[in-house]
Amino acid sequence: MASSLSPQELHTLSSKAVAAKSLAYCPYSNFRVGACILTTSGEYIQGANVENASYPVGTCAERVAFGTAIVAGHKDFKAIAVATDISPPASPCGMCRQFMKEFTAPSFPVYMYDKDGNHFVRTIGELLPNSFGPDDFPPTKT
Ligand code: THU
Repeated sequence: MASSLSPQELHTLSSKAVAAKSLAYCPYSNFRVGACILTTSGEYIQGANVENASYPVGTCAERVAFGTAIVAGHKDFKAIAVATDISPPASPCGMCRQFMKEFTAPSFPVYMYDKDGNHFVRTIGELLPNSFGPDDFPPTKT
């Protein structure tokens, strides 16, 4: 069960997601996406989309943020915020939903911010219902 964020945590999380838009490498789409994860240990980890001349090779902000967090040794996450320059807010693509599901509980909140700082929030369980994940593998025989 994910604990809820304090107003201060949400303010910091959203500010860092908005700021992360400036880190985006998106010369092909010019669609900046910033993300920030709050770990249960209280750290904030940013990500941004990183595109590629071979278009499908590009990576979304959410996966950059989670990959960065995982290789930094984090395992428990409280929330993510994602920010774009459009309104209403963009919500994570299907690949990112599956990627985040790997590391989060169904109650994990995804805050989505528009260009004006308005947001809505959905849980991973809401964004990716009836999903396949690490708990669906049968136990391995030893
Ligand atoms: N993008 C993200 O970073 N996150 C999403 O959830 C949706 C899309 C990026 C990928 C690409 O660099 C650009 O936005 C346009 O699709």
